Amino acid sequence: MNDPYANVAGKYDRIFENMNKGLRVAGLRMFRPSKGMDILDVGCGTGSHLELYRRYECNLFGIDISPSMLAVARARLGGSARLDLGDAANLPYEDRRFDFILSMLTLHEMMPGTRSKVLSEMKRVVKGQGHILLIDFHTGPYQPGKGWMSKLVILVSEFAAGWENFKNYRHFMVSGGLPKLAALNGLRVVKQSILAGGTITLCLTSPE
Ligand SMILES: C[S@@+](CC[C@H](N)C(=O)[O-])C[C@H]1O[C@@H](n2cnc3c(N)ncnc32)[C@H](O)[C@@H]1O
Repeated sequence: MNDPYANVAGKYDRIFENMNKGLRVAGLRMFRPSKGMDILDVGCGTGSHLELYRRYECNLFGIDISPSMLAVARARLGGSARLDLGDAANLPYEDRRFDFILSMLTLHEMMPGTRSKVLSEMKRVVKGQGHILLIDFHTGPYQPGKGWMSKLVILVSEFAAGWENFKNYRHFMVSGGLPKLAALNGLRVVKQSILAGGTITLCLTSPE
């Protein structure tokens, strides 16, 4: 299988974690997990996000389609999380398995038709009273200075990731980003926050 992250996985955190850490912390402020919760990270990448949740003594699960990203996550998390190689459009978990699901910077890079399948799978595996935290690029408006700098970095990164990736990113943006996607797929946004000069949004959602 083609792994678009094969050449990037080893340096992904060095390039992006400085920018991403603040978003992860903002997500934690939006939804603080309780001890013993079952938490799934969809598109867990190198495992940095799950690492942050380790201190809450939850049962951690991650799934990613990229073997190279997952290898970094396995080295980082060892036995403290169950990590699965697989497609988020077909989650290998039973119905209503998780108290909390998070997914960061993952939906925008999927093909348009895949996004709805993935959200439908998340809805299937989250508990009735559970929450889904989505973090992804925002459609603006962007703040002068900080916002436009951040937008430039995003555009360069998305373009450098290849044409297919860029097309998916563009589609995600022109379709209205996370709030539109959540509404279209029956997820109610219970809290929303817009960060990084208007370029990133965090949506805490629950199944309707
Ligand atoms: C930009 S990275 C973000 C990684 C991580 N969420 C983070 O915050 O650092 C996107 C991740 O989504 C994963 N991904 C993309 N499509 C996927 C799919 N259909 N199923 C599972 N993972 C997927 C990629 O392999 C990659 O690791």
